[in-house]
Amino acid sequence: MVAHIVCVGAIYIDTVLTIPHFPIEDQKLRASKRTRRRGGNCGNTLEVLHQLVGTFGARQASLHLLSVLPNEHSADTEFIRNSFVGEDDQQPSVDINVTCVFRHDSQEAASSFIFWNEEKRTRTIVSINQLAELTVPEFILSATRVEDSKVDAGSRQWWHFEGRIPENTVQMIKHMRSTPHWQNAQISIELEKPEREEGLREIVPFADVIFCSKLWATTFGYTSAQAFLEHQLPQTRDNVTLCCTWGSGGATAVKKASNGIEWQSVEAWKSVHGERPVVDTIGAGDTFVAGMLFGFNFHSDDWSLEQKLSFANELAGRKVTQEGFGGLG
Ligand code: FRU
Repeated sequence: MVAHIVCVGAIYIDTVLTIPHFPIEDQKLRASKRTRRRGGNCGNTLEVLHQLVGTFGARQASLHLLSVLPNEHSADTEFIRNSFVGEDDQQPSVDINVTCVFRHDSQEAASSFIFWNEEKRTRTIVSINQLAELTVPEFILSATRVEDSKVDAGSRQWWHFEGRIPENTVQMIKHMRSTPHWQNAQISIELEKPEREEGLREIVPFADVIFCSKLWATTFGYTSAQAFLEHQLPQTRDNVTLCCTWGSGGATAVKKASNGIEWQSVEAWKSVHGERPVVDTIGAGDTFVAGMLFGFNFHSDDWSLEQKLSFANELAGRKVTQEGFGGLG
């Protein structure tokens, strides 16, 4: 049976400036390099997932993106669409079914200007997104288009949401849960940017898998992934898996099953001799999500939670020692 994985989220165009140290306010600083590439959490996740699916022989898969883009004739839209099809020597290209909601009055995609600080190996992201976010009615309409065009009845479906506006995401998921067609769809959510803690509380009861960042946890006063996840558990569905990445502190996952609660933690992955420096942490979390989605969809029974977590953690660890997302499969 074909496994369909649909990711719903924003696509960005990233301009990465490599700088020797963080700029001093109101001074000038020369960058040593500028790279322009397609970004966005779901785009990055799909790019990695696509390689994994190809490399590990899981051909029985189809990957989909549902996203808001600017005017369909704009240069930004063309740049983004080209990043998902065809061959390009400069960038790893991905072959993904893209369903777009176009904002006809806008020429510009969501964009990030990212300082890669070589001294401290940090990435500071300044982003701008003037495209109106996907609304619930738009989601319902477009989700049906994804269904009609590519997803055959009876197929396995996994819907992954970048939880950009938690209250909208909740409505989208509620709609899916109440539609017979989607009764068996598995649903995951990534919560990366903390808005309000209530946003998380609203979403937690509806998802099968939830990915949270360290930023979420620390913003609301938690000092460890375990303490944060423990606090979420009472509100969740049965069989939920919660994951929290902690940067150089590794990652933790917890699964609530009928026979009890299973905890797993891993330390951040390091290359065998620890000699490969960190060169690009942009999208490390998105890569982790790709690894976990791969585990859930293609090794649901033969990999334990510990194996899924270790795989995703290593993948994210390898990603930060290279630029971009190529060659991770
Ligand atoms: C990395 C990323 C970038 C993008 C930004 C959006 O996780 O998706 O590619 O510019 O985050 O928040």
